[in-house]
Amino acid sequence: MEMDNRKRTVGLAATAGAVGILALLGVAGLFVVYTGAFNVAATEEHTSFTRWAFDTTFHNSVESRAADIAVPESLSPDMVKAGAGSYKSMCQHCHAGPGVERSAWASGMRPRPPHLAEEAAEWEPEEIFWLVKHGVKMSGMPAFGPTNDDRALWSIAAFVKELPAMTPEEYAALGGTGSGSGHSN
Ligand code: HEC
Repeated sequence: MEMDNRKRTVGLAATAGAVGILALLGVAGLFVVYTGAFNVAATEEHTSFTRWAFDTTFHNSVESRAADIAVPESLSPDMVKAGAGSYKSMCQHCHAGPGVERSAWASGMRPRPPHLAEEAAEWEPEEIFWLVKHGVKMSGMPAFGPTNDDRALWSIAAFVKELPAMTPEEYAALGGTGSGSGHSN
């Protein structure tokens, strides 16, 4: 009996402690929101904790949402070619390309849009499709779904997936001039 009482007292104290901590965190959060303590300037890098929290949330969110998307069997060299022109007009100024830098203003974004010629290797085609269709809130990555049909978006995803293996010459030959000497591998 006495044992039970002691257990209950310990349980109550622990609950009160947890509620107290949560209340303090809530007050601290409201303090930051209302006083402007958080610096939103894009001229300042994110702290490593904010960056980690954002990146991890971002990757896991995309991965889980793209998991059920079936890649069309027709991700063909023709689609890669069709995606090249769209990439150059819709993505290159932020994400650069083999032999081409991003626009100067895009380097002023936080997070800074990555060079997809390097980062695309880390994403599956269906994840790139999802990213392009839906965009990423609080990052500056636009949603292209409202203005493009799925076929156009798959072409872009197919092209992006080829970027890491593409030379500057191959990149320059695709899309822009319509020379038809398009290469895909
Ligand atoms: C206005 C600038 C902008 C444009 C235009 C833009 N993006 Fe992005 N994109 C971003 C930003 C910012 C991120 C998030 C970067 C981060 O958090 O690391 C991002 C993230 C991505 C990622 C995930 C990369 C990674 O590893 O973080 C992919 C893939 C991507 N964009 C593809 C595209 C494609 C394809 C297009 C064109 C259809 C496009 N983006 C157009 C700014 C842009």
